[in-house]
Amino acid sequence: AEVVDDDEDETHTLPAQQQLTPKLIARRRVHELEQQALNGGGAERIATQHARGKLTARERISLLLDSGSFRETDMIKAHRGSDFGMDKKRFAGDGVVTGQGKVFGRTVFVCSQDFTVLGGSLSETHAEKICKVMDRAMLVGAPLICLNDSGGARIQEGIASLAGYAEVFQRNVLASGVIPQISVIMGPCAGGAVYSPALTDFTFMVRDSSYMFVTGPEVVRAVTNEDVTAEALGGAQTHSRVSGVCHGAFDNELEAMAGIRRLLSFLPQSNRHKAPVLRSLDPRERANLDCLDSVVPDDPNQPYDMRAIVERIIDDGELVEIQPEYARNIITGFARMEGRTVGIVANQPRELAGCLDIDSSVKAARFVRFCDCFEIPLVTLVDMPGFLPGTVQEYNGLIRHGAKLLFAYAEATVPKVTVITRKAYGGGYITMSSKHLRGDANYAWPSAEIAVMGAKGAAEIIARGKDKDQATREYETKFANPIMAAERGFVDGLLRPSDTRRVICEDLELLQGKQLKNPAKKHANMPL
Ligand code: HXC
Repeated sequence: AEVVDDDEDETHTLPAQQQLTPKLIARRRVHELEQQALNGGGAERIATQHARGKLTARERISLLLDSGSFRETDMIKAHRGSDFGMDKKRFAGDGVVTGQGKVFGRTVFVCSQDFTVLGGSLSETHAEKICKVMDRAMLVGAPLICLNDSGGARIQEGIASLAGYAEVFQRNVLASGVIPQISVIMGPCAGGAVYSPALTDFTFMVRDSSYMFVTGPEVVRAVTNEDVTAEALGGAQTHSRVSGVCHGAFDNELEAMAGIRRLLSFLPQSNRHKAPVLRSLDPRERANLDCLDSVVPDDPNQPYDMRAIVERIIDDGELVEIQPEYARNIITGFARMEGRTVGIVANQPRELAGCLDIDSSVKAARFVRFCDCFEIPLVTLVDMPGFLPGTVQEYNGLIRHGAKLLFAYAEATVPKVTVITRKAYGGGYITMSSKHLRGDANYAWPSAEIAVMGAKGAAEIIARGKDKDQATREYETKFANPIMAAERGFVDGLLRPSDTRRVICEDLELLQGKQLKNPAKKHANMPL
């Protein structure tokens, strides 16, 4: 599928009456170039791509977008390099398919790297194509989706390809908080190439066919003597469970594209738009939620599944979880309540008793900030005994990382509704969207316990040399309930669990008109 300059020869061999005019030659050439662009790296490389369980750049786009909606940009743009024989390897499109289309009728901009063309490597020209659609996405206010499948910087171009990456990064940063940016890793992603995804709002991966790392296994071996496979170093499992780089892993590319469409259905086009309202057809709103009245066990140390509560109170039980496999002691995800998008943040008492630790604080902080950027109200469900104690956490900077979540909630000006289902102790009580951090509507279930710390720990400190059991009981009686918080107005009301959905929906309706601005500043200096 390489561009071969053979038209001139043909015109010489044609009989005079059939000679092609310059216009005909140009038309034929355009057709040829478009065909080359459509064929990518050619049939053989496409077959290899398919054999690896991967689709082509164009097949991915057609799965992502509404049928027939794709409008391509710079289809035949080609690189200008000639070093290392690159003048013989000039492909129309230069290894990336870019343009715009629709997802559920709303415009999105897309860049889809074509691994069959020079390994999808990023040249100066390839970067220019990406930058052009990024600029347009910013101009009109529409999400950007990048499907990454690339061997990284085009090695033959040297610094020019690095400059290309830098141009993309700069745009990622300027677009942050203005339009949703989503990266899907669908092949190798090495070197600096991982940083564009890392600068976007969400990075998704496909299991067994994608990986991300700053330096690959060979360099790791050479520098650190560590023997590690690409999969273990930077596969989907590693990044969705261990590092938290990946916000969600899909089993295959079809599921990935369907998943991105689903996520987009919850998001606004930009920070200038509201998220779409999609009323549920399910009569769930009127459904009996009495089962919630008994969901929290009597024994305060018995775990229960917070997800079951979340699924009961949202429309259709449909939660699009972000980082579901990472820091599972906190649940973050998008849902709808009476058709309006909300961001759900909920402690999960089934994991680590729902404690806030470094990973869960960072996970939730980033999610809260995304919601705040895009005016998505936050619904927070609280059941956590506080921040996780221990040297591992302290040595790794729990103070700094925990502060991120505190900062994110305190900074957020979107509607914030909070329900304490059980434990809300110590710094965690304050952090988890408390009244004191400008929570708009804060409630406690009758099972709530709101205090500085658990009764046993408190007795250890305040009853030294005295009867600790009695002190524990006293502390429990006084604080292991929501009464004091309600008396002070730190919660706005005590809520029957079965009323939770109705009350939150009413509050969200009311808070649509919320107007709150932080003091003018260049930007805050959040703890990083
Ligand atoms: C130019 C590249 C390329 C690259 C792959 N190709 N990567 N061409 N620049 N970066 C070409 C190959 O030469 C080959 O062309 C074709 O793509 C397919 O590559 P293969 O190696 O045959 O495929 P595979 O075996 O699947 O291996 C894929 C791969 C490997 C793991 C990605 O190609 C690889 O390691 N590439 C180099 C990765 C890398 O180090 N990139 C630079 C990172 S530094 P032919 O014609 O021979 O078939 C970087 C800095 C950016 O990105 C910094 C920004 C701040």
